[in-house]
Amino acid sequence: MYGLLRRLLFRFPPEQAHDFALGTLDLCQKLGLVAPFAPTVPGLPVEAMGLVFPNPVGLAAGLDKNAEHVDAMGALGFGFVEVGTVTPLAQPGNPKPRMFRLPEHQAIINRMGFNNHGLAHLLSRLERMKYDGILGINVGKNAVTPMEEAEHDYRRGIAAVYGRASYIAVNVSSPNTPGLRNLQFGDSLSRLLEAIKDEQSIQAKHQGRYVPLAVKIAPDMDDDAIRFVAAALRNTGMDGVIATNTTISREAVQGHPLASEVGGLSGGPVRIPSLRVIQGLAAELGDELPIIGVGGITDGESAAEKIHAGARLVQLYTGFIYRGPALIGESVRAIRQVHN
Ligand code: FNR
Repeated sequence: MYGLLRRLLFRFPPEQAHDFALGTLDLCQKLGLVAPFAPTVPGLPVEAMGLVFPNPVGLAAGLDKNAEHVDAMGALGFGFVEVGTVTPLAQPGNPKPRMFRLPEHQAIINRMGFNNHGLAHLLSRLERMKYDGILGINVGKNAVTPMEEAEHDYRRGIAAVYGRASYIAVNVSSPNTPGLRNLQFGDSLSRLLEAIKDEQSIQAKHQGRYVPLAVKIAPDMDDDAIRFVAAALRNTGMDGVIATNTTISREAVQGHPLASEVGGLSGGPVRIPSLRVIQGLAAELGDELPIIGVGGITDGESAAEKIHAGARLVQLYTGFIYRGPALIGESVRAIRQVHN
């Protein structure tokens, strides 16, 4: 059924198709039609970051930047939903077109640039939400904020969403905000991690609740950088790591007419680079810090592969666009086989 719908949606430019599909899904959700017709998703409780996830397959950040579709996503059976990236202030993102499909590779290139309505809007949307499952809120920095002041934006994001999030994801890996990815390396990373840990302690004291922090990293890292990140996450007491974001590499799509579009590449081509990062992190961290594996999951096998590599949870984005809701249950079933 999703195959037919996809054929229709893929006749429209990606961003228009995205808005139309989510709008229709919301309408169906309001009419109570999503849960009864969605493919079944088995339960498979998993503990991570002090939370119990009903199943280990979540929605990755970026699909619901403003927390406008959480109820519908929950009804589809995701074990957790991550909204954002949200920045302190609303911002338009890059000019359109800024999202491109590469169906031959089950891939997308995007340079959205954190288009979102800002923290206040996101919080107001969460007021209306009925979903009571695990909610991750992914925070970032505004494009106009100078890199030297990035820490303030992250602190602001964490403080604002702290009372509403099950966990907070700190995004330092989007290729579409100039300079952002430099925060993943050396002193910049250590300083940022200390700052966000400090903000977490302040909020935990004020609000009487500990909300875990997970840092989202890029796949474009060599082995030394992976080791450095792992040590920094451990030393600063982070609660989790999300690996990975999109890649700037075009190796896997060389020769494709859209390969030279600027932005992050996701889907099939990022599967192996993400897996490499997960394996590298797992080798350093063991069971100390849960890894949320994301990047190129397009079927049950690629979901299970992430768990084999050391991830405890996984997330979907591009595969979900290509395969539809059936991918959620398929992934859970494949992961269940790994657990057995
Ligand atoms: C993303 N992704 C993303 N990640 C993030 O942390 N914040 C964001 O705002 C976005 N925005 C975004 C937009 C679009 C159009 C895409 C395709 C992706 C990255 C996403 O969450 C995921 O990490 C990567 O896409 C890799 O996973 P998949 O897509 O290969 O399953």
